Amino acid sequence: MNTNILNIQSVQLDDEHDTLLILDQTKLPNTHVVLKLKTPDEIWDAIYHLKVRGAPAIGIAAAYGVYLGAKQLDITDVDAFLEAFIKLKHYFACSRPTAVNLFWALDKMQACVNENKHVSVSDIKIALLAVAHQIKDEDALVCKSIGQHGLTLLEKDMGLLTHCNAGQLATAKYGTALAPIYLGYELGYNFKVFADETRPLLQGARLTAHELMAAGVDITLICDNMAATVMKNGWVDAVLVGCDRVAANGDTANKIGTSGVAILAKHYNIPFYVCAPTATIDLQCVTGDDIEIEQRKAEEITEQWYTERMAPAGVKVYNPAFDITDAKLITAIITESGIVRAPYEKTLNGLFE
Ligand code: MRU
Repeated sequence: MNTNILNIQSVQLDDEHDTLLILDQTKLPNTHVVLKLKTPDEIWDAIYHLKVRGAPAIGIAAAYGVYLGAKQLDITDVDAFLEAFIKLKHYFACSRPTAVNLFWALDKMQACVNENKHVSVSDIKIALLAVAHQIKDEDALVCKSIGQHGLTLLEKDMGLLTHCNAGQLATAKYGTALAPIYLGYELGYNFKVFADETRPLLQGARLTAHELMAAGVDITLICDNMAATVMKNGWVDAVLVGCDRVAANGDTANKIGTSGVAILAKHYNIPFYVCAPTATIDLQCVTGDDIEIEQRKAEEITEQWYTERMAPAGVKVYNPAFDITDAKLITAIITESGIVRAPYEKTLNGLFE
């Protein structure tokens, strides 16, 4: 196996130079550009424009972003620092609304500031750095654990289908939905993976196909509208997807198109698994209706990726970035703490008891 892909860092801090290194995912697979970002504005922009993307990676980038912003504050009074920190936190919280990992990571950073109110501003900054590193390091462990649990549901020669990119690039390491695939591959499993291209931003084509090919996994790229055909052909034994937020009843937000894949999987009697770090579970959202769905610009559908515009100028466009998969379509949710099944109201809550 070519393991290089598992060493690639989508987000990395160069603390010595006050710089966040972000692998620009909008340039993949053709160009490997590492952005050197210093200011909160630059990091916010990278999150908004999906240069760094995927729920866990967004949380990691925001944690480092708020740390770097706080580090640059020329303030020694603790109360004034707290006030400026809260502004920074709110700023990053506005970058993308759906992935709860963003808010989860920012809340962890806020908790760190609150716990350290009694020490000097320079010591608070040191504590913030430690928490940001911890968020990243823990994500790699969480993803590995999701991979190990997920693997217990799979067999050696299975055909698998995935949507969007929930892999190495979206996390600190392994990914969520791709973690069982990487771990299985290391054990000599012969998974045959189908990646939906994932319109409109092509995370499946540009990122999932790229990273699984680099790893040496058998990967076939399909257009989103071909999923039914590969399922009908009997080539898919299980679907694995990531998620951006799971509501208390198990309804799950993930990349637009996921819900359609789940409906197809139900029709063809194929297990549909959601891979979710517990940080992605939001018990404050009672159902999927409580999850805010990000709306994005029309140009992503009409122009981006094309050499010329591919829709009439002025056409009305609806471009939700995520959809909600009903809990009843989900066979199981795979977390780092174990695999849960319906009734999700009970089993998801149990993960936190
Ligand atoms: O808009 P994106 O590319 O950030 O959306 C990413 C997804 O929907 C992923 O499936 C999800 O964040 C899980 S990543 C481990």
